[in-house]
Amino acid sequence: YGDYNQKIDYVFKVVLIGDSAVGKSQLLARFARNEFSVDSKATIGVEFQTKTLSIDHKTVKAQIWDTAGQERYRAVTSAYYRGAVGAMLVYDMTKRQSFDHMARWLDELRGHADKNIVIMLIGNKCDLGSLRAVPTEDAQEFAQRENLFFMETSALEATNVETAFLTVLTEIY
Ligand code: GTP
Ligand code: MG
Repeated sequence: YGDYNQKIDYVFKVVLIGDSAVGKSQLLARFARNEFSVDSKATIGVEFQTKTLSIDHKTVKAQIWDTAGQERYRAVTSAYYRGAVGAMLVYDMTKRQSFDHMARWLDELRGHADKNIVIMLIGNKCDLGSLRAVPTEDAQEFAQRENLFFMETSALEATNVETAFLTVLTEIY
């Protein structure tokens, strides 16, 4: 039946940002449809998916926006951030560079989004533990300093994906 006849109490826009190939689109696929694809194509422009859920007896429609990590495929930045009340700042825990770029993504986010936006730092691909290039403590320290929530996830194994999105949505609410 989907949410055809459901009364929506709130619509929350959440944006995904981070370098190309960190797993933004697969985190979204996992959360919205419980799907995962190993041969995920790079996102071009902007896509979004919605998921309706219940928080504290209210019906919340999460509208999750996903854009390209690659500069040349990105759409208009200001439009992407407009109205966002939550953000997932995603790096690949096996790629140090994707973590080192978090400060830049955060700058862009803070430059465009509402100052009360709820932000979650996500170290994705925790299923690849043996290839870890970013210690949990480094990310925790960065998150603490910047006042972000933090979680390590795996879109592949569905680890913490639901929890990460629900934490952000509940905080917004
Ligand atoms: P852009 O759209 O270019 O910005 O990339 P993206 O961040 O959306 O990355 P995407 O979700 O397309 O995933 C990139 C690659 O990483 C794909 O091959 C995915 O299958 C893989 N991937 C995504 N999440 C995980 C994960 O949790 N674990 C593992 N092992 N691979 C993952
Ligand atoms: Mg993508």
